[in-house]
Amino acid sequence: MSKYIIEGGHPLFGTVDVQGAKNAVLPIFAACVLTKSDVVIRRVPDLADVVSMENILKNLGVKVKKEGNVRVLSAKDMDSDNIPNELAKELRSSVFLLGSVIGRMKSSQVAYPGGCDIGLRPIDIHIKGLRDLGVVIEERAGYLFCDGSNMRGGEVVLDYPSVGATENVMLAAVLTEGETVVRNAAREPEIVDLQNFLVSLGAWVKGAGTSEIHIRGVKELCGADYNVMPDRICLGTWLLAAASCGGEVALKGGRKAEIYSLLCKLDKSSCHIQEDNGIIIIRATGEPVCSERISTRPYPGFPTDLQAQYCAYASAARGTCVVTENIFENRFRHVPELIKMGADITVRDRVAVIKGAGFLSGAEVTARDLRGGAALVIAGLVARGTTVIDDIRHIDRGYEAMEKTLSNIGAKIERI
Ligand code: UD1
Repeated sequence: MSKYIIEGGHPLFGTVDVQGAKNAVLPIFAACVLTKSDVVIRRVPDLADVVSMENILKNLGVKVKKEGNVRVLSAKDMDSDNIPNELAKELRSSVFLLGSVIGRMKSSQVAYPGGCDIGLRPIDIHIKGLRDLGVVIEERAGYLFCDGSNMRGGEVVLDYPSVGATENVMLAAVLTEGETVVRNAAREPEIVDLQNFLVSLGAWVKGAGTSEIHIRGVKELCGADYNVMPDRICLGTWLLAAASCGGEVALKGGRKAEIYSLLCKLDKSSCHIQEDNGIIIIRATGEPVCSERISTRPYPGFPTDLQAQYCAYASAARGTCVVTENIFENRFRHVPELIKMGADITVRDRVAVIKGAGFLSGAEVTARDLRGGAALVIAGLVARGTTVIDDIRHIDRGYEAMEKTLSNIGAKIERI
């Protein structure tokens, strides 16, 4: 298993190209099965999760051509509606294919996506949403058997603004006759990106980015050439790394408006952030003082996907922070690892109290999940001495060659 070795204590200087968004590209790949024409997707990040999605698509009969960060997907000869267990368990996002495969084939058999290291992650809201569109779903022996032969547009009221369920219902509805209205929809920017992509294929979708999305079913979709949006979670991760370590970093392609909830929680006296011509520049002293209350919420609230990285920042800063995780029930697995590095953190239920002393020390730690792994990298970059992070395959699920990005801006990080 690969590890990262990090020698901490170096400020960061240079430019980072923000990668395409993992959480946008996965539903967009799922959407590609809705058209028989070729689709070109650009700015596809090189990630383990993207490879898992490609393997599932190939198994359905979709052709995937890769050239650098560009993919050409062709679902013309798609001949299967079955996503077997060994592929589904690799990728929680295989659940998106439920909606799109039913939309295309009018049936689908999908292995129940496994639990996950950050919590149970049930799919009841997805299932209810699809049932509201007339899909008959039976659960047997770990599989969902879906019959969409009597689907029709309808009103879907989500019990909670689930990102995945919103995307799934959108994907199921675009080729389904009639008008679908999704109420209490998630408002994440990745949903807007999915809408933009679907519209580029000729779909009729409006309202993404608000809590009410309207979809009118069309008979068929065409091809498209599409650029995936930049990854706001990577952007936030690089900002937190620079705010912790100090230096000056230019982030190309990121959009400040998508991470306001983070920007207002960074210490203004120790870092200055400006956006200029599509480039975000952070200048930081590397001596933050942090006395904030963070509470993760659906967008535009503070993202759960930046909670762990923020904990690393707060641990290395001076001051006391209170961090509440409201979205996932098991998302403090980075805390015991940060404690090994000298962090003073107490967790009770969903609340972590972090008393930052202004420094961390290098240690041997283990990445337990994707964003928790990114948090340990930030902690390693700022810590005194050497940090060894074990099991970095989690980090590879969401960050394209993280060690290269960070080495380019002066970090001392090596993969072994
Ligand atoms: C997506 C993101 C993930 C992010 C999360 C919240 C992708 C590929 N992943 O995950 O990185 O952390 O949004 O911003 O886009 N829930 C149910 N029943 C359901 C669906 C969800 O109870 O049917 C619960 C979940 O367990 C969780 C909460 O709702 O507690 C939010 O989940 P959801 O918004 O669906 O997240 P994902 O789409 O899985």
